[in-house]
Amino acid sequence: MEIKATTDNITGIKTGAIIVNHFEGVKQPEGAAADIDKILGGAISNLIKQKDIKGKINEITLLHSMGKLPASKVVVLGLGNKKELTINKVRGAIAEACRYLRGKGVSSIASVIAGEGINKIKTEDAVQAMTEGAMLGLYTFRRYITKKENNFGEIKELTIVGKEKKQVEKAIARGKIMAEAANYARDMVNEPGNFMTPTQMANTTRQLAKKYGLKVEILDRAKMKELGMGGLLGVSQGSQQPPKFIILTYKGRESSEIDLALVGKGITFDSGGISIKPSENMADMKGDMAGGAAALATLTALAQLKPKINVTAFVPATENLPSGTAMKPGDIISAMNGKTIEVLNTDAEGRLILADALSYAAKRKAKAIIDVATLTGACQIALGKICSGAFTNNQIMLDKVVAAANDAGESAWQLPMFEEYREFIKSDVADIKNIGNRYGGAITAAKFLEEFVDKTPWVHLDIAGTADTDKDKGYLVKGATGVPVRTLVNFVLAQVKK
Ligand code: BES
Ligand code: MG
Ligand code: ZN
Repeated sequence: MEIKATTDNITGIKTGAIIVNHFEGVKQPEGAAADIDKILGGAISNLIKQKDIKGKINEITLLHSMGKLPASKVVVLGLGNKKELTINKVRGAIAEACRYLRGKGVSSIASVIAGEGINKIKTEDAVQAMTEGAMLGLYTFRRYITKKENNFGEIKELTIVGKEKKQVEKAIARGKIMAEAANYARDMVNEPGNFMTPTQMANTTRQLAKKYGLKVEILDRAKMKELGMGGLLGVSQGSQQPPKFIILTYKGRESSEIDLALVGKGITFDSGGISIKPSENMADMKGDMAGGAAALATLTALAQLKPKINVTAFVPATENLPSGTAMKPGDIISAMNGKTIEVLNTDAEGRLILADALSYAAKRKAKAIIDVATLTGACQIALGKICSGAFTNNQIMLDKVVAAANDAGESAWQLPMFEEYREFIKSDVADIKNIGNRYGGAITAAKFLEEFVDKTPWVHLDIAGTADTDKDKGYLVKGATGVPVRTLVNFVLAQVKK
């Protein structure tokens, strides 16, 4: 889809459909909606009067221009109550309108800047949100559908109408980078496990590195042994697919220091291993590398936005499968930082591979670490699929991550890291064990990870609930969400700004 800016009046644009807005509780069409209303002989004001148009958020009303406008259709898109409008609502509303119009066979759209000036929403932020909303909301994963239905449709062009063309173009470019990065992560997560193996994840990373000028390094099993990565080696030993430890680096300033490490869980399929999962919903576990995908995709955005900061992604990638060579409950392994781990449940594998990756990031003296992982079903039980769980050893850093998440519309909610939780992962035979008791599973998992970051300021995001969604809603489409790519990009940009 091409997204462009124009200063032309929306009433004169020849396109499939134009989008204008209406707010709840407003009696008369305003702005561009008023201009269109006049040309259409009061069609919009009549619908408002008859309460057919209420202006509720995401409300879509389709009108035909009957030859009175160069555009064939008009959508009046509700933006809800003016006082309650947010950037994230703009993102969602535009997505809904774009998907709706695609379903109607429309291939080009022009829209006013939704929400501009309302509730102090800046023009550039509204335009960026519209760009993100359109690109995220129109995302599809149809690579394996061989029947090319010509009625599925595609929006080929979105024109955003604004006064300052340069400013609008800049905001479009930024939104495009953000949405594209999130869609890269979605693509990787939506791929089935038989394609997205650890080797393929490494190859995809190589392709992205080449495209965006990033430095990539892939560690193989021999190197993992040399480094003492007992967690990653242990989890991978039941699988026929060789594990890969993927390291992708963005350098925004002259120095070999790592200012921020992004550590992402890269389990390309989680069967649970010998502690095998029930078959119901097991297919969802192809997405157990969503944290890794997010870390990698974030760097493609940084490579284009060029903040003056060094960020490295560390992604341990492996399958977790049962076999005659698989790890067994009761096995004791040793992580890269030397700590021994009693593996009481082979399905708590994410923390084992992250133990090595966090140790490695700490050893490389990363100044701060954010890890992202589809770590625990418990987190999804606690918070649902609306927000990610956030944990830290550094409150100031966490507050910044949560703020970045809110800006992205990818909210995160802090859960406690009280010392008292530590006792549940005490082992009788090793330094630590990989499961707690029945309760507070997301927290005991985070307490486990904390053992491997040394004293580095660290935030852990548990995205078990937020990495995928079961229905199209706003700018999310069924399948992978791309969470928290835009959060991570926002966080990095905010770090450099100050
Ligand atoms: N990948 C899962 C967590 C998960 C569950 C992600 C549901 C997304 C949706 C993780 O490896 C896992 O299996 N965790 C176990 C831990 C338990 C054995 C302590 C869990 O949450 O059940
Ligand atoms: Mg598991
Ligand atoms: Zn897992």
